[in-house]
Amino acid sequence: MTKGMIDNFSRPLKDLRISVTDRCNFRCRYCMPAEIFDKYIKFLPKNEILTFEEITRFAAVLANRGVKKLRITGGEPLMRQNLSTLIAMLHAIEGVDDIAMTTNGVFLPKYAEELKQAGLKRVTISLDSLDDDTFMAINDRGVGVHKVLEGIEAAHQAGLNVKINMVVKRGMNEKDILPMARFFKDTSVILRYIEYMDVGNSNGWTLDHVISKHEIFDMINKEFPLEPVAPNYVGEVADRFKFKENGQEIGIISSVTDAFCASCSRARLSADGKLVTCLFSSGGHDVREVLRSGATDEEIAAFVKRIWEKRDDRYSEERLKHTDKKQLKKIEMSQIGG
Ligand code: GTP
Ligand code: 5AD
Ligand code: SF4
Ligand code: SF4
Repeated sequence: MTKGMIDNFSRPLKDLRISVTDRCNFRCRYCMPAEIFDKYIKFLPKNEILTFEEITRFAAVLANRGVKKLRITGGEPLMRQNLSTLIAMLHAIEGVDDIAMTTNGVFLPKYAEELKQAGLKRVTISLDSLDDDTFMAINDRGVGVHKVLEGIEAAHQAGLNVKINMVVKRGMNEKDILPMARFFKDTSVILRYIEYMDVGNSNGWTLDHVISKHEIFDMINKEFPLEPVAPNYVGEVADRFKFKENGQEIGIISSVTDAFCASCSRARLSADGKLVTCLFSSGGHDVREVLRSGATDEEIAAFVKRIWEKRDDRYSEERLKHTDKKQLKKIEMSQIGG
């Protein structure tokens, strides 16, 4: 039985994103540029990272308060050893009916099958270009496109539903917008274009880099006429469309030019156990300390409820106010995933 939902002025807590590691085998320019991360960022020591038991306990407490959706993120989540064991533990929680993962896809040929067996339902794979030179310049680790395509194929073969996230940045990959649409249009994979965001402190974001939802839509619609599709659920971040030609779905995520904070019902748990209420927060609330202090389930739930009910996050709606002036250091995307 689900006890009372944790709510905040019609922004119920419905979706928990769990980062299982802050490490990644990529250094995407828009997320964790190598010249900064390799020099200045210290990765977490093992004892500071939540154990699978701690993650599962926390997820179960929230599932009991109405959280039905879990997404596993990183860094790159598949850099955490034995991840399928965690998936199986989360899958066994009563009330959880959707477990997804955001990954760069490279390790999926090795793990897709066991992840599916453990209860993973869906993967979202990041791919920003089909051109090797562009993609290698973005990931900065010399990884070619074929590695990700093999991951997509492995996920598909294992029976996982697949979405693709393509971050679009002016001067980086706008020439790839149409080739990506052409490539995925005749597959069962749902491609989503994402407006480039000012996540973290190191990607050098400016508004000029952003290609808007409308520009992306117009570009695709000219060559492949699109029609809108109703959202799957309240608070879905992607605007959904389908190709008139064959009904295949694509999406555009417009957190810069058309923010969706008003319906934001996502909480994020960092690998070291901080509860983060916004992708752009400067910090989080220490769940690890609460878990390790011997708190009861009720006390853990009360802790989250207090935080969620006070939450006033609206970063994307107020972005220009923040980016115009020097602001607090933000949490890095590598700490809390997408
Ligand atoms: P499902 O609906 O569960 O399939 O996933 P989703 O649409 O929520 O997508 P996903 O978690 O893959 O998010 C895609 C991208 O949207 C992320 O990588 C971020 O760039 C952006 N995004 C997701 N959630 C938020 C959010 O709460 N705030 C902002 N500003 N951007 C978000
Ligand atoms: N802007 C928008 N989305 C981003 N991601 C990472 N960095 C950014 C950014 N600067 C998202 C991508 C990727 C996921 C891990 O995080 O969608 O798939
Ligand atoms: Fe790229 Fe994801 Fe790694 Fe960030 S966490 S560097 S977006 S693969
Ligand atoms: Fe939610 Fe923060 Fe994203 Fe707005 S900017 S949708 S409040 S995570």
